[in-house]
Amino acid sequence: MTDRYAVIGNPIGHTKSPLIHGLFAQATSQPLRYEAIEGPLAPAGAFEATVRAFRDAGGLGMNVTAPFKLQAFEMADERTERAQLAGAVNALKFVGQRILADNFDGIGLVNDIQCNLGVSLAGKRVLLLGAGGAARGALLPFLDQQPAQLTIVNRSVAKAEALATQMAGRGAVSACGFGDLAGRSFDVVVNATSASLRAELPPLSSGVFGPGCLAYELVYGKGLTPFLRLAQHAGVQQLADGVGMLVEQAAEAFVWWRGVRPHTRPVIDQLTVPLV
Ligand code: ATR
Repeated sequence: MTDRYAVIGNPIGHTKSPLIHGLFAQATSQPLRYEAIEGPLAPAGAFEATVRAFRDAGGLGMNVTAPFKLQAFEMADERTERAQLAGAVNALKFVGQRILADNFDGIGLVNDIQCNLGVSLAGKRVLLLGAGGAARGALLPFLDQQPAQLTIVNRSVAKAEALATQMAGRGAVSACGFGDLAGRSFDVVVNATSASLRAELPPLSSGVFGPGCLAYELVYGKGLTPFLRLAQHAGVQQLADGVGMLVEQAAEAFVWWRGVRPHTRPVIDQLTVPLV
């Protein structure tokens, strides 16, 4: 029998996960089927019921995307530390009746930056834009790499400060507002705000991009977003969007489910939309 996996979200039509996992399965000769499920937004409890029904029909694991990452977190029986710190999960594994949960977004981002883009985070000055779910998931994986400093900047400074306080003791992390960045520059600048989804630009000055800087946009497939355009105008040579992160987080889930690590490069190449 073919093992079953799925991604659940709403809307789900745009998802690349079935394609990515299909390519992984083909390349590693894993007998599995991976489908997309549009999860119910209502009534209360309907999402959990859909997950349990998939498991009871023989499903072995699921990816979870918006808007269900918090509900998946809450229904899990076990969560990894990074999932707890992220406050959200993007992958579930069904072991008997138990639901295990993890969040591979942050490690996917770190692997893309370090392994694919060749930028080591150790000792670097890192600026993280945003303090929402996407930013929160990146904090612990970033700090594990021991950057010289990790600065969280957010429009609502209190949200950034709360995250920095939560992570204090895990590394050199601090928080500030966009107005506090004058005169400061960084080696890696990551846009984890949702601004690019609406073609908006966070109130960022181009002075934040230091020499040899990497500018990384979490949103993928949208070409040069306003953030990447700002970086390009500032002379940044290394620009990246989140396609590598997307494939790397999928690879982590694949290893967790199947015990086999797929090569990510061919899949990233296939999904990459040129940054123009
Ligand atoms: P996600 O799960 O994608 O992180 P979220 O939790 O709604 O989404 O968080 C969105 C983040 O993008 C927040 O940090 C938000 O800043 P505020 O907390 O100050 O609202 C940030 N954001 C959204 N639009 C932005 C913009 N135009 N400029 C700067 N930050 C923006």
